[in-house]
Amino acid sequence: MVYEYEQFIVDVHKLTGIDLACYKERQMKRRIEALIKRYKLNGFKEFLDAIQENKEMYEAFLSYLTINVSEFYRNPEQWTILEKELLPGLLERNKNRPLKIWSAACSTGDEPYSLVMLLSKHMSLNNITIDATDIDKQIIAKAQVGIYDKKSLKGLPEEFKQKYFKQLGSNSFQISEDIKKRVQFRQHNLLRDLYDSNYDLIVCRNVMIYFTEEAKDEIYKKFYKSLKKDGVLFVGSTEQMLHADSIGFQSKFSFFYMK
Ligand SMILES: C[S@@+](CC[C@H](N)C(=O)[O-])C[C@H]1O[C@@H](n2cnc3c(N)ncnc32)[C@H](O)[C@@H]1O
Repeated sequence: MVYEYEQFIVDVHKLTGIDLACYKERQMKRRIEALIKRYKLNGFKEFLDAIQENKEMYEAFLSYLTINVSEFYRNPEQWTILEKELLPGLLERNKNRPLKIWSAACSTGDEPYSLVMLLSKHMSLNNITIDATDIDKQIIAKAQVGIYDKKSLKGLPEEFKQKYFKQLGSNSFQISEDIKKRVQFRQHNLLRDLYDSNYDLIVCRNVMIYFTEEAKDEIYKKFYKSLKKDGVLFVGSTEQMLHADSIGFQSKFSFFYMK
């Protein structure tokens, strides 16, 4: 019997807990085929055997699957909308307690750290805690180190760059411990793991684009459940929901939804 992609994703699911069937097939298949070619292997079965036998290749495969590109203040104009239009209401409704915030699929930490910096303009750092999760353990370790290149910082307001980064080399900047301490990282698979509840704000950007329509729908419903009433979901630039109202969300500006 020919060993095809369909069987490969069943085996990868068993091996890694990642269900590739929830990711858009054409894009995912093309990426994996490119990797198989790079390793000069012959098809999906040989590749599966290789990642089972070789830990380094297994880790490389996982990192490769999870596209980790990120930036501080990615799409700065949307961060301005968050600060000017949505944050005031969130703060007003939660005067006596800290906001509960989740950066889901946080990659190298640029996003949760941006949230801490943004909030630091409105409250003391000691009152800020951000939950930050990603499926990729290696990328979480990188986020915890907190060293970035110039490109990642290009959208970040200069005041934050000055205040919260130390330049290590011509192209390398370390984020301050004061900011790092406010973020709690943990591994979490959006497709499989339980979601915490009572969030005021969930930020999940630039990961839904990789999922099938069915998987996206499930995740948006789970985010809805995880938010408090009047809580806000902030999505990526190409990730607007088509039927937000059928889930119960109210669309606010282009990339924000309120429960
Ligand atoms: C392109 S990055 C987005 C980072 C950040 N949110 C941003 O917008 O800059 C996508 C991230 O999604 C993570 N990811 C992919 N599949 C996931 C899943 N099933 N559960 C949680 N995170 C996942 C990847 O590991 C990667 O770090």
